[in-house]
Amino acid sequence: MTASRSSLRYRCQLRQPATERRAETHPLTWRLHDDNRLIGLDEYLDKDGYVAVREVLGKQSPDEVIEQVKEANVRGRGGAGFSAGMKWSLTMKGEGIPRGYLVCNADEMEPGTFKDRLLLEQQPHLLIEGMILGGYANNSRYGYIFLRGEYVEAARALSRALEEARAAGWLGNDIAGSGFDFDIALHTGAGRYICGEETALISSLEGSRANPRAKPPFPGQSGAWGKPTVVNNVETLCNVPAILRHGVEWYQGLSGGRSDDGGTKLYGVSGRVNTPGLWELPIGTTGQELIDLAGGIRDGKALKTWLPGGGSTGFLLPEHLELALDFDTVGQYGSRMGTGLLTVVTEEQSVVSLLRNLEQFFSRESCGWCTPCRDGLPWVVKILQSIERGEGEQGDIELLEDLAVKLGPGKTFCAHAPGAAMPLQSGLKHFRDEFERGISHRPRAAHEDPIPVGEV
Ligand SMILES: Cc1cc2nc3c(=O)[nH]c(=O)nc-3n(C[C@H](O)[C@H](O)[C@H](O)COP(=O)(O)O)c2cc1C
Ligand code: SF4
Repeated sequence: MTASRSSLRYRCQLRQPATERRAETHPLTWRLHDDNRLIGLDEYLDKDGYVAVREVLGKQSPDEVIEQVKEANVRGRGGAGFSAGMKWSLTMKGEGIPRGYLVCNADEMEPGTFKDRLLLEQQPHLLIEGMILGGYANNSRYGYIFLRGEYVEAARALSRALEEARAAGWLGNDIAGSGFDFDIALHTGAGRYICGEETALISSLEGSRANPRAKPPFPGQSGAWGKPTVVNNVETLCNVPAILRHGVEWYQGLSGGRSDDGGTKLYGVSGRVNTPGLWELPIGTTGQELIDLAGGIRDGKALKTWLPGGGSTGFLLPEHLELALDFDTVGQYGSRMGTGLLTVVTEEQSVVSLLRNLEQFFSRESCGWCTPCRDGLPWVVKILQSIERGEGEQGDIELLEDLAVKLGPGKTFCAHAPGAAMPLQSGLKHFRDEFERGISHRPRAAHEDPIPVGEV
């Protein structure tokens, strides 16, 4: 039997069945179906769609909108956890300031991360509604969705939803009779991790090479084409309609006291678990709860370590499984919540090999602008490869430690290199014995002396 073209299309899946998701508790996913089908405009409208736009535009001031997003304490879901309301309040706007742009960061190339994809493929109107409200709050004239090039299914869903929204008057001039004009364009990237860094994204959007830019000026002061530009993650923007609809207190209450952060989070688990996937849960859910939801560890193995939110976060240990997964808590244990999608590593897996794989990715994705990142990351990969083969040399571990510091915060032009350094640093700290096992103990000839630490 030949499968039809449409049945060959794969859509990202949520593990929670529809019966477990409600509008009052699951603002991001309550509309989604178990068969992962796309929610078109009619269905979105039937399910409270664009109500927040109707209730807010022209009826509340942009400052009032910003104040609510600030009070709700929506922390940026792209990984850094910066308050969305605070970012919006710092964006330049007012008399004499040109109207700028609201950019949705849908680049999603963080290793182990696949949460934005779910929202983009199945519920594009929620993102469009969040962008209209964000555009209104920031006095933006146009919105851009910067989409990862490989997300072909998401591009289809977004293109269709943008056309529907435009035809129905939710985009364009005088939206819902409010006098507010705003439209959105879809921009597909060429598939580079560095395009996810907000200033590199802006360079790429403008048609230049995706090199990050110095901050300040921050995008909110001078971003795309020199105009005030707000960059927010897909999940961050998708939180906005429900906050404005149901209020700050309701949103804060969603975390059920597990965290000072408000709302829910799209968490996920991948790696050696029985049922990898995605769940919308109160922010502050623990790693243990997530692994249980994912059906536990595969083949009865023991957990060795885990990354809490993508390849650029630090390794945590089994003893950290009871921590609330929110931005502040995880930050106190030498890691970051990042994107909130766990990568589970079991006892028989080699941390050296895992790191070699990750650092190869980060090395390949460096934009090459600054020396520690351009030259340091391939060097890290070379050393890890030799340790992996059991041919590491005396001094290699110290050299890796030194490189991790030189790639760390404050030493490079953007956060790509510090992101690559975090798993390296924590891997060396927690699993030094695995690195030591890869050091060859054969006597060394004089010309083979390792490069002294400090001369990197
Ligand atoms: C190398 C690198 C890659 C990034 N990739 C993404 C990405 O794919 N998606 C994203 O939303 N943020 C990404 N970020 C974070 C963005 O720079 C920015 O902080 C984010 O888009 C802001 O949105 P938020 O405040 O809503 O999280 C990346 C940062 C770095 C340093
Ligand atoms: S840290 Fe790496 S990715 Fe960032 S600007 Fe420097 S070379 Fe480019």
